[in-house]
Amino acid sequence: MDQLPTKAPDYGYQKKQYRIKTKKLTYRLSRQVNEFNWFYSCNKEKSANTCILKNVNCEARPGEIMAIVGPSGAGKTTMLEILAGMIPLSRVSGCVLVNEQPMNVTQFRRVSGYVTQEEVLFPLLTVQETLMYSARLRLHGELNRATNRVSELLKELGLEHVANVRIGGESSRGISGGEKRRVSIGLDLVHDPAVLLIDEPTSGLDSASAINVASLLKYMAVKQGKTIVLTIHQPGFRILELFDQILLLSNGTVLHHGSVHLLEHRLRFAGHSIPRNVNVLEFAIEMTEAMVIDTEESEIEDTDIEGEFEHTRKTPVLVNVAETKKYYSNPPIKEVMILVQRFSSNICRTKQLFAARILQSLLAGIVLGTIFMNANNDPTRLKLQTQIGFFAFSLTFLLSSTTEGLPIYLEERKILMRETARGAYRVSSYVISNTLVFLPFLLVVALLYTIPVYWIVGLRREMDGFLYFSLVVWMVVLMSNSFVACFSALAPNFIMGNSLIAGIMGSFFLFSGYFISKDDMPKYWIFMHYLSLFKYPFECFMINEYGGEKGKQRCLEALEGNCFLYGNGFLVQQGLKDSQKWTNIGIMLGFIFGYRFLCFFILWYRSYRTQS
Ligand SMILES: Nc1ncnc2c1ncn2[C@@H]1O[C@H](COP(=O)(O)OP(=O)(O)O)[C@@H](O)[C@H]1O
Ligand SMILES: [Mg+2]
Repeated sequence: MDQLPTKAPDYGYQKKQYRIKTKKLTYRLSRQVNEFNWFYSCNKEKSANTCILKNVNCEARPGEIMAIVGPSGAGKTTMLEILAGMIPLSRVSGCVLVNEQPMNVTQFRRVSGYVTQEEVLFPLLTVQETLMYSARLRLHGELNRATNRVSELLKELGLEHVANVRIGGESSRGISGGEKRRVSIGLDLVHDPAVLLIDEPTSGLDSASAINVASLLKYMAVKQGKTIVLTIHQPGFRILELFDQILLLSNGTVLHHGSVHLLEHRLRFAGHSIPRNVNVLEFAIEMTEAMVIDTEESEIEDTDIEGEFEHTRKTPVLVNVAETKKYYSNPPIKEVMILVQRFSSNICRTKQLFAARILQSLLAGIVLGTIFMNANNDPTRLKLQTQIGFFAFSLTFLLSSTTEGLPIYLEERKILMRETARGAYRVSSYVISNTLVFLPFLLVVALLYTIPVYWIVGLRREMDGFLYFSLVVWMVVLMSNSFVACFSALAPNFIMGNSLIAGIMGSFFLFSGYFISKDDMPKYWIFMHYLSLFKYPFECFMINEYGGEKGKQRCLEALEGNCFLYGNGFLVQQGLKDSQKWTNIGIMLGFIFGYRFLCFFILWYRSYRTQS
């Protein structure tokens, strides 16, 4: 094994190579920062001070595979996360050197690929599309370049036969587990990173596929001079042979770092005889106790290390200006275009969403239409209360039926976080493209609702009235979509997100002015009235129906032939003016963009937090 070439011999061009070293790396879990205490993560109180990694020294060289091995819970994933720059170095003591320089996380992330154990792929895209979008986002230059890279990768990863098959998810069967694993690896290979970090590339694979993946990695290390670090918990004989370096961890301490042969020698030297046909590594894990004693001698007091390396960690790192400028491969417009394409194909293929949303609008429109039809049929008795009730109910329905976006947003957030962490695109491009895709989609939804309902219920029979009504409905669905986008960015999970959204929506209804009039609200609650998404469209509906030249002369309530309430009288009673027709639309636009901006800000903060 040791004779294998360690430099890239026949790679077309000279790529920069990376040597990664850690020195006395210690990671303590002082404060658990996870999804759940997002709200109270400022709580500085220290919980149990568990040491996950202790004094880890290791070195990964270009052209080689370093395998982090050990029983589960040994700290392999944590180690890899630190090397990938996913755990802020400020929380780690000791140091990580890249080519003898302290690691510059942002820069290092761009030259490295990091494949997590959890697969986050769009189930509805095909293998080729998945790789293609990733390639287009991460490679600059023409489409051709991405196309070539993808076909190269498909061949390299042995995925050509499933190129046009959808990835598949829980509900629909797609490609196999091993193929998914290879697609995930492929996603981080599109930009041809010089360093590849992979968490458990072989877990869940049959032995043939496992060897397949491992040999592929070996090939890339040897032929392309990549530095590959992977974790694996029980490699077989043949896979073990492919590794140049082994970092054997147990409970966060290094039991062995070096080649498998060295491990064998050490074991022999310690007086163990390795039985035939026994995997050296398995044997070593069994013999851990004997080896722990060996390594414990080298442990130094933690305080010393921290002091010693504090300054290395804090040394300002030279940043190559030219490189930072080109942080993103594409200009924002192109990013938005690519993301719009990806998002629309996802939405269009989410049949349930599409069908459910459209059917829901259409059915609700027709059913509501028939229920409230009578409101206008009797010319002598115009049922004002019924019509207002229809407006209120319409809004309830429209505002509350948009929460179905929540699971989509949450699922996407995982992918977004992974991609932005690797610098694939800007968070702002994501938010803009997302908004752009929803504009036409929700317009269709709005029209499907308004077309039947407006005419069946028999609202003002004029084209401008109908168009304005449709515009307001469109604004309403856009508002609630933005609202959901914002809160799904904030919420840690589906249950929290759902209760948060339902709770706030509920209070919007309460403070709309329909259930309790504005004048009766306590002063300290008045702000909720103005924040209510319900208030503005509700007013728009009333002004549209009872305002304007014709509406003014419209009799709303009459007693024995004498009209005592006209349209304009009613509006005055409600404290509404015709001019509010457009200012309210403006306010709704403000909400739409305001929530989107908030959504952007939260997502940006989330992705920024994982980067520093
Ligand atoms: N953020 C965290 N919160 C709580 N425990 C953690 C966290 N990260 C790692 N651990 C703990 O550290 C140990 C090592 O975890 P991990 O690196 O995932 O192990 P491996 O990948 O070797 O199975 C485990 O006992 C795990 O519970
Ligand atoms: Mg793990």
